Amino acid sequence: MKIDARELLSKAIEARERSYCPYSNISVGAALLTKSGKIYLGQNIENASFSPTVCAERVAFFKAISEGERDFSAIAIAGGKKGEPSRADFPPCGVCRQVMSEFCDADFRVIFGNGEKITERALKEILPDGFNKDNL
Ligand code: THU
Repeated sequence: MKIDARELLSKAIEARERSYCPYSNISVGAALLTKSGKIYLGQNIENASFSPTVCAERVAFFKAISEGERDFSAIAIAGGKKGEPSRADFPPCGVCRQVMSEFCDADFRVIFGNGEKITERALKEILPDGFNKDNL
């Protein structure tokens, strides 16, 4: 599917606007690209009890998985203080990396940043020696 990192990141930046983040005031958006070219968006959704908070990346993944998607090529992530431009450095948390490793192969692309700086990594680079179904 022909969509470049910058374009996918711009979808993640737009998605930030629908973040529900009254506690941290950090709004995060994610845009998950399937191998067939569909894009699923997600935002962080916080909770007064804190621990039920879900990251933007997992919202995007679970929306897609629940719709029957299983083949993914890339995710873009944009985050920063609510109402401010996204940060250049907003990599995915460890729990989200683990969820990615359940459904994506080692070459799955992880893109984060803002319009000025874009970082692109393979999942295997940001989760080396990860534990997954092959280890069971
Ligand atoms: N957050 C994400 O949505 N994705 C990440 O990968 C890191 C953190 C959210 C969770 C919480 O709502 C806020 O950012 C501050 O941690």
